[in-house]
Amino acid sequence: MKKNVKIAFFDAKPYDRAWFGAALKDPLFADTDFDIEYFDSKLSAATARLAQGHDAVCAFVNDRIDRDVAAQLEAAGIRLVALRCAGYNNVDLEAMWERIHVARVPAYSPHSVAEHTVALLQTLNRKVHVAYNRIRDGNFALAGLVGRDLYGKTAGIIGTGKIGKILARILSGYGMRILLSDPCPDGEFAEELGAKYVDRDTLYRQSDVISLHCPLTPENRYMINEQSIALMKREAIILNTGRGGLIDTRALVEALKGDRIRGAGLDVYEEEERYFFEDWSMAPIRDDILARLIQLPNVVLTAHQAFLTEEALGEIARVTLSNIRDWAQGKALPNEICYHCEEDGKYPGCIRESSGSCWTDEPAAETSRSRPEDTRIHGVPVCTKAFSPESERFGDEDDPCADGSE
Ligand SMILES: NC(=O)c1ccc[n+]([C@@H]2O[C@H](COP(=O)([O-])OP(=O)(O)OC[C@H]3O[C@@H](n4cnc5c(N)ncnc54)[C@H](O)[C@@H]3O)[C@@H](O)[C@H]2O)c1
Repeated sequence: MKKNVKIAFFDAKPYDRAWFGAALKDPLFADTDFDIEYFDSKLSAATARLAQGHDAVCAFVNDRIDRDVAAQLEAAGIRLVALRCAGYNNVDLEAMWERIHVARVPAYSPHSVAEHTVALLQTLNRKVHVAYNRIRDGNFALAGLVGRDLYGKTAGIIGTGKIGKILARILSGYGMRILLSDPCPDGEFAEELGAKYVDRDTLYRQSDVISLHCPLTPENRYMINEQSIALMKREAIILNTGRGGLIDTRALVEALKGDRIRGAGLDVYEEEERYFFEDWSMAPIRDDILARLIQLPNVVLTAHQAFLTEEALGEIARVTLSNIRDWAQGKALPNEICYHCEEDGKYPGCIRESSGSCWTDEPAAETSRSRPEDTRIHGVPVCTKAFSPESERFGDEDDPCADGSE
């Protein structure tokens, strides 16, 4: 029998409707009856109640799924959040643990993001954004438009996963020297490219272009700050198509105002949630930092569009629907993510590889059988009970199953 899944789709844009609509016609999904209700609103504590009556939620980068929203979704009967993006820093995974599964699209088109990073770099470096506006005004003067050859310069790439590696190859093709930084270095890749892993301070000191391609975590929030900028060359261009929170934007604005660095190409902004993806052209921008960024001539800002290619949108729709279908059919969830998973894809401490899912919905006895014997993960005591409202998990202070936040 065809499985029916009711999906509350938040922050829906016309291109989402178009690409998900097209993907639904794929014979791949003939065995599932997807019933999608599109909501324009972002998912937040104020809108979570819209999920009532659905089985799953589909969310994007600026839908905030914190503890409060997680509780509301659980109460509304939601058992899966299907992220239609790779990053998940907007989700409180600890709050979702054993309540609501979370799946994502780990890779759609890393090329889309790497290529957009190059677009930002070349626009900024050759001042195409200034030239474009001048010429529309009939101003054909070249004064002030001097750029630099990228050939022979040094690019420092922070985060050498899927996107960082593609960018490294592209910039290597320009004849740039490539420096890399990643807690999990890929020596084979570096050797093949003639690139070199260095510590982050060396990368800051030696690079003409610094590009961020790592996930946002509590440890690397504000990795670009006053101190790191102080190490950089005056000619440095900073590129961020990763996550806004990787940069202390106040410190960046000060550096850009004072010509301490050459420029910044940004696709993400730490406070983007309020403005990005929406039309604010008829309203004042009340975020002074954002307003300043927009106004600076040595900044090129796009509104989180690096992913926005036809190839990426098609893949996002296909993988998101596959995740939802697999979950609805009780199959393994290879794209599930939980707070026991690790960024490098090896997932120590997470049972997903052995059980097909980060946690199972099975009765307590079976669930604890499939867990590792050690009930501490990353040094933290871990609850081995299956969640059920009757399990009194909030009752006992010494019980690892008790919710520490209370
Ligand atoms: N702007 C966009 O439209 C867009 C689209 C997709 C992804 N992204 C962002 O790009 C990031 C990278 O995507 P990906 O597909 O290449 O991810 P990935 O998981 O393939 O690679 C991330 C890499 O970062 C490394 N890393 C983790 N912490 C680090 C640190 N502190 N310093 C240096 N490296 C670190 C990891 O070891 C890994 O190699 C995502 O986390 C997401 O935030 C943005």
